[in-house]
Amino acid sequence: MRILAIETSCDETAAAVVEKDGKDVRILSNVIASQIEIHRKFGGVFPEHASRAHCEKIIPVTVEALSEAHATQSKSRRRAAWSASRALRTDFHAGKIESGIFDVAAPSDIDFVAVTTGPGLIGSLLIGVNFAKTFAYSKNLPIIGINHWLGHIYSNWAEASDIPQFPALILIVSGGHTGLVLMKSHDEIIPLGQTLDDAAGEAFDKVAKVLDLGYPGGPAISKAAEEGNPKAFNFPRSMLDRKDFDFSFSGLKTAVLYESKKHKMTGKIKADMAASFQQAVIDILIGKTIQAAYQYRPKSICLCGGVSANKELRGQMKKAASSLPHSITFHCPPMALTTDNAAMIGIAAAYHLDKASTYDKINANANLKL
Ligand code: KG4
Ligand code: ZN
Repeated sequence: MRILAIETSCDETAAAVVEKDGKDVRILSNVIASQIEIHRKFGGVFPEHASRAHCEKIIPVTVEALSEAHATQSKSRRRAAWSASRALRTDFHAGKIESGIFDVAAPSDIDFVAVTTGPGLIGSLLIGVNFAKTFAYSKNLPIIGINHWLGHIYSNWAEASDIPQFPALILIVSGGHTGLVLMKSHDEIIPLGQTLDDAAGEAFDKVAKVLDLGYPGGPAISKAAEEGNPKAFNFPRSMLDRKDFDFSFSGLKTAVLYESKKHKMTGKIKADMAASFQQAVIDILIGKTIQAAYQYRPKSICLCGGVSANKELRGQMKKAASSLPHSITFHCPPMALTTDNAAMIGIAAAYHLDKASTYDKINANANLKL
């Protein structure tokens, strides 16, 4: 059973092919066209440019994902697929793409289409959703709409030999969302709490701007933090004294802004502020997650979303999880699946094939809830 997955909720145009064989789920291809260079000069995602770039890239990215997936098949099928894809690429570069795109995947190659339907930027979502619907319609294939956060959650199901156990406590930390969910089964996902203001990744991006460290902010802060002292500044750890599982990062961001105005911003001060800010975020995330682990006693703790690429967060969360009194497994997605990608959408779809419907039932929803 092969799934073509499409993800265009924000600023990455992504397509992947995922195979489900009995209980095994395997990624056959995972292609991402990043828009970082387009948005860098604006210091953040510029929605109209994002939509235009998705329009430009969605076909070539899908073609690449389909042909890469063929490359992992039997030799004869692979040879046939490669010559089809070579012809297709030639057609594509000659501007004759319309005749080629749907030929590269014969109906037997793809059985389902999956697409992110929300949440996200509506102009971005619409490109992927409309493309996926057209693909499904033209091939008469079932299509599955996937919530973007569900996709991030399932990035933890990418390693067949190391999947989480239920109940699993999952910390979603990305640029658009931060929250804790308890997953009791594939169909029972209970939100425990979420950010009341900025998402963790958003705080990284905004603080990187304050410290003038570059774009995107998360990787820039974590790189600068390697040279800094995490104890140099005592930034606030908001909400840790509360018993609920909500988060807040806007006070922390403002504290960094005020502190930055008091200093001559040398490389050393920036590194110390980056490290101290990063440690405050990590303390908040770990504090809430461990608090929830004591209350719900999950069998697994999982991280996901762009901020889960942060090595300090991964290392410190793993240590905190291992110090819990009951035994627990700790999971992080492979690095390539931390930020937005279509493989995670395909994996989520593989566990929810029963939700497949027809193209006319699928629509984009910028505010879709988990
Ligand atoms: O999950 P994602 O790709 O997009 C959303 O769904 O929002 O997350 C992007 C976020 C950005 O805010 C980025 O700064 C952050 O993930 N990020 C990081 C790191 N790499 C990416 N934050 C902290 N440390 C990192 N190494
Ligand atoms: Zn995301």
